[in-house]
Formats: sequence, structure tokens, C-alpha cells
Amino acid sequence: MSERALRFDERRPLAVIGAMPEETGPLLAAAVGAVEERVGPFALHRARLDGVPVLLVTCGIGKVQAAALTQTLLAHGAAAVLFTGVAGGVDPSLRVGDLVVADRAVQHDVDVTALGYARGEVPGHPLTWPADADLTARVREAAEALAGAEGLRVVVGTVASGDRFVADPVDVARLRATFGAACAEMEGAAVAQVCAAWGVPWAIVRSVSDTADHDAHVDFRAFTEVAAGRAVAVVRRTLVGLAG
Ligand code: ADE
Repeated sequence: MSERALRFDERRPLAVIGAMPEETGPLLAAAVGAVEERVGPFALHRARLDGVPVLLVTCGIGKVQAAALTQTLLAHGAAAVLFTGVAGGVDPSLRVGDLVVADRAVQHDVDVTALGYARGEVPGHPLTWPADADLTARVREAAEALAGAEGLRVVVGTVASGDRFVADPVDVARLRATFGAACAEMEGAAVAQVCAAWGVPWAIVRSVSDTADHDAHVDFRAFTEVAAGRAVAVVRRTLVGLAG
């Protein structure tokens, strides 16, 4: 899409979504003029954030929640979708708090290999969905600016999504070997699949809460808040750039 298309207004806002309140709460707290609309199980918040008209929503955990919300957001005018949240690091260079910006997303738990499809391939769809280049370039720029200021690493790579909290080094090695995954999470590729079906741009920023190993459940609880805050900071820098 062209730079021109990354302009948002009240009728065609940017949807900013996360799975958990820890991931979206700080954005809602910073939003101006938020008006809540209940749509089925979701609370849609129309607001301005850092000068950009947004639809802020918490989708809940997992691919079904993410797909259901994304479809709802597109029906409510979202012109693009930006996902923010935490992830398990899979790229071995990643440490807690580091940032991943998706250049593509894959559903690592899809398995139709018995019928000859590649692992992760949803029949009738590409194996991976590419993120929107322009929106992703903005997110990457914001991530690198934050990383420079805070001494973090930014990895641009494949976000692997599945309905499973990954907490085993063997699974991490498999995600790395099979998909070249940078991180594992539970929603992004579902957002990507729905957005791709409708030709709507999407991007994902994730901050590492754990490294998806045997300590993942402990680290996730200890570091989710701080990691979610890092992703939020990237979103806000991105918005400032989009508003300017
Ligand atoms: N989100 C944060 N950490 C995760 C992990 N280890 N697996 C899946 N989703 C996650």
C-alpha cells in the first residue's frame, strides 16, 4: 500500500489490538475521548491516541478470539490492524524485553501434512502471510528508536502463532527449524489471515516476556507487564509518526 493510504480518520480508524488487558490497558489509559461500544463479546473503544483515530480492543487469548475480533473490526471500518503484545522468544538472540516486528506470520499448529500440505499450511492459503510493508516499516522504525534508547534488540522476522503456550526447548528448536520463527504467540497469524482475506494492511509488534522454555510460565508472569509496556511504547511512537 502507498504511504498515502496510511492516513486514518474517524470513519476509517487504525485498529490497535492486544490479547490481554496488560497489553492494551496502557493504550486505553492514554487514549483521548474514548467512547465504548459493545459488539457481542468485545468492547470497542473509539478514541484518538497520539493524534491518530483508533479502535482499541482486547481480543482475548488465542486464534479464534483474534480472528473473531479482526472480522468484527473490519466490519466496523478499521482501515488497518496493528497487534501489540508479548511473545515467547524463539530466535536465540532474543532476551526478555527485546522486540519482534513481524515481516510475516504463520500458524505453527496447523497440520494437514497427512494430505501432503506443508506443516503450518492452511489448505487454500499461503504458508505464511506477509505483513504490510509500509505499516511494518513505520513500526520497525519506532522499535529501533526505542531499542536504541533502551539498549534492546529488535528482530524483524516470522511470528509463529498457535493455540498453545510454548514452554519447551524442543518445541522452540522445532519452531526455529521448521518456520525460522523469531517468536511464538497465540494470535498474530489469525489476524493476518483475516486481514489478508479482506486486503487490509496489518502489522505486529511483540516484546519478549519469556523464551518459551521450561521457565516460560514463571517468566511470563514476572515479565509480561514490563514487556507489554515495551510493545505499547513502540505502538505510541508509531502513532506519533503516523499523525505527523
Ligand atoms: N506469549 C508469551 N509467551 C508465550 C509463549 N511462550 N508461548 C505462546 N505465547 C506466548
